[in-house]
Amino acid sequence: MKIPYNADMSELQEYQGKATMEKITSLAKRRGFVFQSSEIYGGQSGAWDYGPLGIELKNRIAGAWWKEMTQLHDNIVGLDAAILMHPRTWEASGHVENFTDPLVDCKKCKSRFREDMIPAENLSAKKCPDCGGELTDTRKFNLMFKSHIGAAEDTASIIYLRPETAQGIYVNYKNIIQSNRMKIPFGIAQVGKAFRNEIVTKNFIFRTCEFEQLEMQYFVKPGTDEEWFNEWKKQRWVYYEKLGVKMDHLRWHQHGPDELAHYAKDAYDIQYLFPMGWRELEGVHNRTDYDLSRHSEYSGKDMQYIDQDNNNERYTPYIIETSAGLTRNVLMILCDAYDEEKVADKGDADDWRTVLRFHPNLAPITVAILPLMKKDGLAELAQEIRAELKEDYATDYDQAGAIGRRYRRQDEAGTPFCVTVDYESKEDGTVTMRFRDSMEQIRVPRAELAARLRQEIKAYKRIK
Ligand code: GAP
Repeated sequence: MKIPYNADMSELQEYQGKATMEKITSLAKRRGFVFQSSEIYGGQSGAWDYGPLGIELKNRIAGAWWKEMTQLHDNIVGLDAAILMHPRTWEASGHVENFTDPLVDCKKCKSRFREDMIPAENLSAKKCPDCGGELTDTRKFNLMFKSHIGAAEDTASIIYLRPETAQGIYVNYKNIIQSNRMKIPFGIAQVGKAFRNEIVTKNFIFRTCEFEQLEMQYFVKPGTDEEWFNEWKKQRWVYYEKLGVKMDHLRWHQHGPDELAHYAKDAYDIQYLFPMGWRELEGVHNRTDYDLSRHSEYSGKDMQYIDQDNNNERYTPYIIETSAGLTRNVLMILCDAYDEEKVADKGDADDWRTVLRFHPNLAPITVAILPLMKKDGLAELAQEIRAELKEDYATDYDQAGAIGRRYRRQDEAGTPFCVTVDYESKEDGTVTMRFRDSMEQIRVPRAELAARLRQEIKAYKRIK
């Protein structure tokens, strides 16, 4: 949605209060969440840089997922596998053969399209939707980035950037059973980069060529796979509830036969209602024994599990996978938190505030310390308070400008709590604690601040 350049106040109100990708992209840049990659050279499409607030948000989202998967599950352990893997991995996984998009090029303007993005009438007439030029026949385009390792550029030196983190888990599954004495059912979790040569990379960080995944592979006995599939569907839903996401913005989508990946017996996506519509956020997949059987076939290594508690019964485990995009989760959390609220009625731009209503556990800055004035020792006192809090909380310090403006700046950064140090603080040792969501202000003794913050974070409930 573009705001007309000559909009008057009543027209502007129509745009106010609504989250759009334009507004979110612009806020993300303005406040240092996400920048375009290599911007000074005109930008690199499909790649983005995470600024000071963005990296904090991304780390907290990854941390929340990691805690959920490993700390809260006794039988799930972590792994950090290399991005570069033996090229046979990708033959075994089916990616060399099957990980393709149908591609069509325009002979005239050289635009490139995914076949399913072209209107049916253009496709049947072989007419470019952009310039009307002639389109090529559809061809399969492999999404894996290919490079060469070592000095020689021959077929023996081909190497791929991994298009999913999952394969690093499968090739290590026996190592992990042996080193950590894991018994089925058990899981392996991993956070890491993945790369895909995506043809269409619009909508900010939604679909990019370089991105990060949060993947967990759960190894189960064949025959129990459907039960575990349903269990993981339940758990992933509850996880987003715990994160404080608007649950009416989430829904399930089951893959139809033409959507199922080559490895999947059943698959459901959790979709989120982004400003551009319902889109995939995470997938829960029943991958059967496809991956381990194929690695066994291609490596010649036995990938069967030996059940020592059950007369050494041997079988190839089935795998239930939960696979979310970390960078896509960053976008979801930004969209979910974004709010514009009318806070006054003076008829000017200050009537509205933009606020990111992050859960305090995800907010890049937990508490900002603001001296009412720089002078009279207030700045020094505020710095002292910051030093007391920074061991336990992510803090910020801001002494520039009017206090109202500073609150607005923290609202835009999604900081749930501000602490203001004023003249009374010098007299009686109390400070003002200001709550982002309600804008309520209370007085708290300085000595009780850390404990009060802990309480507030634990009891946090989103009000809007
Ligand atoms: N291991 C299974 C797998 O990779 P996927 O559905 O292709 O399945 C899983 O990807 C998740 O990774 C998606 O739900 C999405 O959140 C994220 N993802 C996939 N491609 C992406 C891209 N090009 N940019 C950003 N995130 C992506």
